[in-house]
Amino acid sequence: APVVVAIDGPSGSGKSTVSRAVAARLGLSFLDTGAMYRAMTWWMLTNGIDIDDADAVSIACAKPVIVSGTDADGPTITVDGVDVSGPIRGPEVTAQVSAVSAVPAVRARLVELQRGCAEVAPRGIVAEGRDMGTVVFPAATAKVFLTASPEARAGRRAAELRAKGVDEATIAAMAADLTRRDAADSSRATAPLVRAEDAVLVDTSELTLPQVIDAVVELVAE
Ligand code: ADP
Ligand code: CDP
Repeated sequence: APVVVAIDGPSGSGKSTVSRAVAARLGLSFLDTGAMYRAMTWWMLTNGIDIDDADAVSIACAKPVIVSGTDADGPTITVDGVDVSGPIRGPEVTAQVSAVSAVPAVRARLVELQRGCAEVAPRGIVAEGRDMGTVVFPAATAKVFLTASPEARAGRRAAELRAKGVDEATIAAMAADLTRRDAADSSRATAPLVRAEDAVLVDTSELTLPQVIDAVVELVAE
């Protein structure tokens, strides 16, 4: 069976960075499922869909064509052929993505796309998000749940934004959003953010990135 590595955890725990590095090391594809929820949210905002109207979101979510490029050396994401890798990281999408991703029809559609990506990955895939181990790939080869203290996670996100030249007011707003999103993602009815019973918990608060990457590569090799 093809290799599937499922990596879940809250925002800023290191999922994207670690998953990409593990995929590159092992010659596997890489899938950032958060980018897909962000792309769906970007499309809703761009097309004037009322995010607070779950029925409107349910109907509209069938429309956008979302394509994820799964090369670990340069993942891409397009919506209706438009590269949205920049705008999906902005504060507008970040503020609304938890609401969009709580809508069951949105999840059903994106889960199907995610499984399709795994099926066509030539050597297997490292997929990261909130429900990889619990819902999307319950039979994954290896499951990891990354965590870190709220302080460490917020600090990493802030450092990342600062390096990009983002202003301090926006950084503070995005930090507040991170706490709110974690609470929303963990308490929603459909596919809440929880550790799968068989996922290995890795607390990255006191670990360097190379240490976390090595630990995950070892878990896959087991
Ligand atoms: P997530 O995908 O879970 O939101 P990211 O992979 O985007 O997290 O990581 C957020 C930031 O924290 C990135 O700038 C990344 O380089 C940094 N980071 C991740 N893991 C560690 C770690 N163990 N030690 C130090 N910095 C880390
Ligand atoms: O960048 P950050 O780690 O903060 O978030 P992300 O991984 O890009 O995910 C953005 C949002 O998408 C999350 O806050 C969740 O609401 C949602 N998401 C989800 O519901 N299920 C996934 N598998 C991945 C993301």
